[in-house]
Amino acid sequence: MVPKISTLSGYLYEYQKSIADPTGFWARVAESFYWRKPWTKVLDWDFHKPEVKWFIDGKLNITENIFERHLFLRAKQPALIWEPNNPKEPHRILTYEELYREVNKFANVLKSLGVGKGDRVAMYLPMVPQLAIAMLAVARIGAIHSVVFGGFSARALAERLQDAQAKVLITADGGYRGAKTIPLKQTADEALEQSPSVEKVVVVRRTAEKVPFVEGRDLWWDDLMKDAAEYCEPVEMDAEDPLFILYTSGSTGKPKGVLHTTGGYMVYTAYTFRNVFQYRDGDVYFCAADIGWITGHSYIVYGPLLEGATSVMFEGIPTWPAPDRYWQVIEKYGVNEFYTSPTAIRALLAKGESWPASYEMKSLRVLGTVGEPINEEAWHWYHDHVGKGRCPIVDTWWQTETGGIMISPLAGITPTKPAYATLPLPGIRPVIVDNDGNKLYGKNVEGNLCVEFPWPGMARTLWGDHERYKQAYFSAFPGLYFTGDGVKRDEDGYYRILGRIDDVINVSGHRLGTAEIENAINEHPLVAESAVVGFPHPVKGQGIYAFVVVPDLREELDDELRESLVKGVAKIIGPIAKPDRIQFVNGLPKTRSGKIMRRILRKIVHDSTDFGDISTLTNPEIVDELIAGYKALNG
Ligand code: PRX
Repeated sequence: MVPKISTLSGYLYEYQKSIADPTGFWARVAESFYWRKPWTKVLDWDFHKPEVKWFIDGKLNITENIFERHLFLRAKQPALIWEPNNPKEPHRILTYEELYREVNKFANVLKSLGVGKGDRVAMYLPMVPQLAIAMLAVARIGAIHSVVFGGFSARALAERLQDAQAKVLITADGGYRGAKTIPLKQTADEALEQSPSVEKVVVVRRTAEKVPFVEGRDLWWDDLMKDAAEYCEPVEMDAEDPLFILYTSGSTGKPKGVLHTTGGYMVYTAYTFRNVFQYRDGDVYFCAADIGWITGHSYIVYGPLLEGATSVMFEGIPTWPAPDRYWQVIEKYGVNEFYTSPTAIRALLAKGESWPASYEMKSLRVLGTVGEPINEEAWHWYHDHVGKGRCPIVDTWWQTETGGIMISPLAGITPTKPAYATLPLPGIRPVIVDNDGNKLYGKNVEGNLCVEFPWPGMARTLWGDHERYKQAYFSAFPGLYFTGDGVKRDEDGYYRILGRIDDVINVSGHRLGTAEIENAINEHPLVAESAVVGFPHPVKGQGIYAFVVVPDLREELDDELRESLVKGVAKIIGPIAKPDRIQFVNGLPKTRSGKIMRRILRKIVHDSTDFGDISTLTNPEIVDELIAGYKALNG
């Protein structure tokens, strides 16, 4: 097990040590794992290149650290508890021993399909145990997994399959989400028409609906597993060999394939899991995220299983069949640590406090949030009505690219403050810089959040595009990793995340690039151009507001066109990217060089007229028209 901090002075001591001697600090954490060959050097780095390598020459297999390391003690302990969408359906428990067997069998299946070290295997699955099994099986044979969230469209899936040049896709006949059935196989088939690299498709049976099957290409999971051998030798990996690719949105149109490697990611997710949640042996831990996002990778699968924890995996949604689904699950399994998003909390808050009031949830000890800033009202509701005033809340700030939690309280140890992510974890050196790159020291400062020293869990590159990695994270402020977030450090030295300052919006805790949504809108033949900004939304945190230029607009067509644009975006990206509001306009505010001045659009949707200097606009008269249109649309 990784070293565990248990007091505030212990945290302060570890933090100081991690700064004074970072390589000594991380070497000590890494020593708690099983390495087939030890590293020869802890760290090599240069943020200007940029290049980061941890545990150089170290050899290991991450699944050996999950299974072989724990099996002697934990064979009969539940590793995964799977709770289905429908509470009337039976749940499923996989002990460490059972999960180990399934992972080994599927690893052998993958080998029989010709998958080897370094090959990419994509998953487009609902939240079923096979998803976790497949990820670990891929890792066992040294291949690279790339999970695509099941809510993405065929186009979005195809783009990711092509970029990763995936050899095998694992999908399901369908998935359940509340009252809905999601036709995953049909969507996958559509994507596969444009994804020639995919040779085989493994299909998990979930809904048992009849689905199209392509002879020779498509294979049922169950058929393949029936005869698979129960042991598969783990492939020895270099610490810096890739573990997975996970696509996320950036400020330009194309999604970024964030690449995480084996050794550093293992050390970092396990260390942060144990310390942030203060997980104790025998606890039941429940992260309600989807494995399609980084939170599920790091804190449903890898972090907890590396620490020998019992991790609950939930297929459904918080509000179906009724808005007490989470509270039911917490009582059913005696959950001790619960981790979810501010969006889910706000959605449940809106349903009233009588729902959590009917559940004592006595087992709960720690609550967590992730993905977006949490507003004070939601924080207090979570604290008072879910935690019954006795559970600390860990507001964890991090990103797909950071691999694990970076700034967060340690549960029950760091004094919390609503809406504050509080203090950096050991080894993490946040720094605030102004727009000119000057570091702002001391208290009560606000600016761009950067990190000035590497940590083991950080992304090493963007798949196939190292130059873009450099541009996106290391160019705005040379020598620093730039997060894209604004931040404030208050009089106590506590950090409060203020949200994205680039062209990325955070909808329900999901990152979406405005350019990606604009490209989708612009595909409509009647649209000349568009600009998308985030606006404050009571449940989603940020909603999507689109200003759309339509040259030949006739008022009677407004609603029809709106609907068709919304449908178009859902088809091109997925339902998560649907605009909430669409305002048709005659033009967008532009500088002489033709750039859209989004600052103005952002002000308008925040009900502000504090535009600053607009003298560089070529069309200043458009601003009044935009404001008038905004008022007409939004009352
Ligand atoms: O803006 C920050 C916000 O989510 C972004 C990262 O999104 P993603 O890569 O999808 O990962 C989400 C799950 C780790 C960040 O740049 N964010 C994440 N956590 C918080 C947050 N904003 C405020 N408070 C948080 N706790």
